[in-house]
Amino acid sequence: MKLFTETCTLWLSCILLLSGMNISAFSYDYSSTTKCLVEPQRAQYGGGMIVNPEFNHSLEGWTVFGQGEIEERISKAGNSFIVVHSRTHPLDSLSQKVLLEKGKLYSFSAWIQISEGRETVSVLFKTTDELVRGGKVIAEHGCWSLLKGGIIANFSTHVEILFESKDTKVDIWVDNVSLQPFTKEQWKSHQDISISKVRKSKVRFKVTHANKTAIQGAIVSIKQLKSNFPFGCGMNYHILESTDYQNWFASRFKFTTFTNEMKWYSTEKIQGQENYTVPDAMVKFSKQNGISIRGHNILWDNPNHQPNWVKSLSSDDLWKAVEKRINSVVSRYRGQLIAWDVVNENLHFRFFEDKLGENASAVFYSKAYQLDPNTNMFMNEYGTMNGGDEKASPANYKKKLKEILQYPGNEKILLAIGLQGNFGSGQPNLAYMRSSLDILGATGLPIWLTEVSVGVAKDTDQAQHLEDILREGYSHPAVKGIVMFAGPIAANFKEMPLADINFNNTPAGDVVDKLLHEWKHSQALEFTADDKGFVDVLLFHGDYNVTVQHTEANSSTTLGFRVTKDTPQATINVRICT
Ligand SMILES: *[C@@H]1O[C@H](CO)[C@@H](O)[C@H](O)[C@H]1NC(C)=O
Ligand SMILES: *[C@@H]1O[C@H](CO)[C@@H](O)[C@H](O)[C@H]1NC(C)=O
Ligand SMILES: *[C@@H]1O[C@H](CO)[C@@H](O)[C@H](O)[C@H]1NC(C)=O
Ligand SMILES: *[C@@H]1O[C@H](CO)[C@@H](O)[C@H](O)[C@H]1NC(C)=O
Ligand SMILES: *[C@@H]1O[C@H](CO)[C@@H](O)[C@H](O)[C@H]1NC(C)=O
Ligand SMILES: *[C@@H]1O[C@H](CO)[C@@H](O)[C@H](O)[C@H]1NC(C)=O
Ligand SMILES: *[C@@H]1O[C@H](CO)[C@@H](O)[C@H](O)[C@H]1NC(C)=O
Repeated sequence: MKLFTETCTLWLSCILLLSGMNISAFSYDYSSTTKCLVEPQRAQYGGGMIVNPEFNHSLEGWTVFGQGEIEERISKAGNSFIVVHSRTHPLDSLSQKVLLEKGKLYSFSAWIQISEGRETVSVLFKTTDELVRGGKVIAEHGCWSLLKGGIIANFSTHVEILFESKDTKVDIWVDNVSLQPFTKEQWKSHQDISISKVRKSKVRFKVTHANKTAIQGAIVSIKQLKSNFPFGCGMNYHILESTDYQNWFASRFKFTTFTNEMKWYSTEKIQGQENYTVPDAMVKFSKQNGISIRGHNILWDNPNHQPNWVKSLSSDDLWKAVEKRINSVVSRYRGQLIAWDVVNENLHFRFFEDKLGENASAVFYSKAYQLDPNTNMFMNEYGTMNGGDEKASPANYKKKLKEILQYPGNEKILLAIGLQGNFGSGQPNLAYMRSSLDILGATGLPIWLTEVSVGVAKDTDQAQHLEDILREGYSHPAVKGIVMFAGPIAANFKEMPLADINFNNTPAGDVVDKLLHEWKHSQALEFTADDKGFVDVLLFHGDYNVTVQHTEANSSTTLGFRVTKDTPQATINVRICT
């Protein structure tokens, strides 16, 4: 809680006393996703629907899939677990068949170890005609790692749970497996509980006379002026031409990313001829409207999205060109942006690594940091929250973050995690999404969903899927901001238009407006102080005015205050001098 204005009149003096107190932490359990443990922990949710989840009853409930052999082993501490050995195929595994019910979400976890070295182990769910990837972990020998993930059932079906490791020489050890089903309603209520805990704080108002005796019956009216959760939207150059687009945008959003206009291929189409006319004008528009900007992007690791002239440069000339690019764009907007996507998509692509060496990304983060040390430096990837994407899995993402941070001089970088969040048209796998956020949240680095969009296809409900994804992001404690890549059709946002050609909402636009409304106190809240002069209220983080009216004193005063997550419980003392 931070006081940002204080008003005093002849009649009223307002004194703010702040007292912080911790409320109990929410039960998102990140701790176990970072550590590799000597003894694993209990199966989550008591194993959920898994039969014999902790292998207390030997192999009961488990069978072999493929060619391998499974056997029970017992640790020095007396804990029994299962080993799959003599594998010849990546999918040779232990297996258990479970029945998934249509519409339910399933959270999966298991403790994994391997017989030697370090190796990725995945969980797969096999239906009669499909293999659905449900999560993975980089396991190592000598300690247990937690594999987290999940699946959502589009229809009722039997699935076999399988474990995969590409290297068939290693034995896979498994313990304490869990598959916990949730109905959509349970999932939503879990989100709502989390939203109350991570996006709101308890505030107590205490209204007293100057001599500190309580005033009963004072009317306390609370009005939210601003939400401080960044929920923004991409923006493109059409904003410079269309006042309708300007009004549409500025009346909704305080955070943005320019879709293409800051990219290298836009600002230096011809080598040596830089042109920042368009992004400069967009920065100006944003500033005039109090809109914060994520800088997107300094470099893009995809070979297909370089300025044409870059592709043929020798490695010496490429180093020079890249240094010039970083200097140019970062110096130009230094201190004016809230984030930089430094090397876009460096898990899927390696244009610069191939041409300049393995440390290319780490060097670029270092250079950007030296030029603009107080701005968050993001990685920015697609696919991390979708089960099927191998390259940008949470495990690989963490590995790359570590590489960047370990490069000499990079320890202090304000590194951050950008997850684009472009989902296909199908049912989003929220269980997998949550496990990805848990795994990356365990790093302690801020996570933003940076380019949220949802595909569209026949018979799919794009607006509902968008709502599900936005709620999952907003309710997760590690997520510090959300930006969608969408907009009005008039600005050519065809994939997920939020407004039609007349700037009327599409169904997806309705979802966005509903959530903008829901994630703050849109109406003033009014309370009457009790006999101790107290009003207790749970408030969204943000900026407020409170007005206290006291009929005896025949006057009122207004006071501004800010609620943040840093003071989960605070008391505001309002003293009225009569
Ligand atoms: C397995 O055995 C341990 C130790 O006896 C016990 O604490 C645990 O509850 C058992 N697990 C299950 C799922 O029965
Ligand atoms: C405190 O001040 C109020 C208003 O001036 C008065 O009514 C009340 O009796 C005072 N209480 C004490 C304990 O002095
Ligand atoms: C820079 O870009 C703007 C906008 O596209 C264009 O109008 C202008 O002519 C360009 N300037 C130069 C020097 O090419
Ligand atoms: C990359 O940087 C690390 C230091 O973090 C260094 O040990 C390594 O030799 C570098 N590799 C290359 C290929 O330059
Ligand atoms: C559910 O649908 C999604 C998206 O269409 C798909 O990726 C996933 O494999 C499906 N799940 C099952 C269990 O079929
Ligand atoms: C209360 O305040 C208003 C406006 O300041 C004034 O017009 C009115 O006469 C006051 N009433 C009493 C009872 O003092
Ligand atoms: C908030 O209160 C201040 C006085 O403290 C006032 O100037 C401002 O207009 C109020 N804002 C709104 C939106 O009520």
